[in-house]
Amino acid sequence: MSKLYVISGVTGMTGNELVRQILSKDSTDHILGFDNFFASSIDTVADHIDDERFEFFEYDINNKTQMQDIEERVKKLAPAYSEIIYINCAAVVHTEHFYHVYETFATNVEGMNDLLSQAVRVGADKYINCSTSEVYSMNSWNENGGVKESDFLTMAVAEHSQRTSYATGKLLTEFFMKDAVDTGKIKGCSIRFANVYSKDERYPKHIIPFIINSFRDKGKVTLLENSRKNRRTFLNNYDSCSAVLALVDTDSALDGTVYNVATDEEISIIDLAKMCAAKMGITDPVIEFEGYRESDPERRLLSTEKIRTRTSWKPVVGLEKGLDECITNYLKK
Ligand SMILES: NC(=O)c1ccc[n+]([C@@H]2O[C@H](COP(=O)([O-])OP(=O)(O)OC[C@H]3O[C@@H](n4cnc5c(N)ncnc54)[C@H](O)[C@@H]3O)[C@@H](O)[C@H]2O)c1
Repeated sequence: MSKLYVISGVTGMTGNELVRQILSKDSTDHILGFDNFFASSIDTVADHIDDERFEFFEYDINNKTQMQDIEERVKKLAPAYSEIIYINCAAVVHTEHFYHVYETFATNVEGMNDLLSQAVRVGADKYINCSTSEVYSMNSWNENGGVKESDFLTMAVAEHSQRTSYATGKLLTEFFMKDAVDTGKIKGCSIRFANVYSKDERYPKHIIPFIINSFRDKGKVTLLENSRKNRRTFLNNYDSCSAVLALVDTDSALDGTVYNVATDEEISIIDLAKMCAAKMGITDPVIEFEGYRESDPERRLLSTEKIRTRTSWKPVVGLEKGLDECITNYLKK
């Protein structure tokens, strides 16, 4: 029988690709998706908006009446489906918002927990909680091939910067998730994504679109001083979403714990800028440095052994291919 999905933040980078991957299967799976367009627009799902398997609602996860409506719809549809799966993508995400404690708390913590309670009330089978690799904070790498989900954390705190409030909120949601599974209410897990990007990226301040747009518009790029040292891995949103669906399909993995989802293709931000420039035909790129971000780890390298052992997931879009797609797409617009 078919599955009924409820996806919050459905027009965001993760949500819209989930829609694409779920509906690309020849199935009668159904999606109830909602988003308040805080950081996205309906354009991202334009290719599926007429598909009768996808119902979209311009709703806010913090609006009780609107969430009540989603709940009623799920109850009505539920008998026709073998599984009900909630995937919580709605969040106040980007770096500039990390510093705003109340803004991120309402949506990322209370909103996540309210939607989890709804999933439990309607008798949903599974809940996937999108957490973040930001929780690794100042220990975002180690000498043994990447930080693991079970590693102890060393977090920057309010003494250092408000930045970690986003990660702290996300960390709390991992406890909500674990509690719900441990008390037998639902199956589920949390996912710590690292630096997701997309060829359809709508957010010009993310590093990949920022670099490409800067070279295109100004012929140069101005990076933060941190970028003189920083290294990152980048995960294509095709792979982040295939990981979500691999976990959805693996009941034994839904034990309430956390999964790192990332690549191990680490690159310095300077080399990333040079790689983008080379792909854009710029031979001697101008790279300048200005500004400094507190509590920003020099590396973020995650071990993905756990998800690779427990599911058949592995990333398939390498950075070369992913950047080619980004450049082709952004330059077209
Ligand atoms: N992008 C990354 O690199 C990354 C890394 C780690 C974790 N994550 C997590 O993955 C999840 C998905 O992130 P994304 O990359 O798709 O980000 P995104 O910003 O593209 O998507 C989030 C969506 O949530 C929506 N939203 C925000 N507030 C809302 C509200 N009150 N009600 C309803 N919708 C609301 C936004 O409009 C947006 O469409 C988030 O939980 C995020 O914290 C993302």
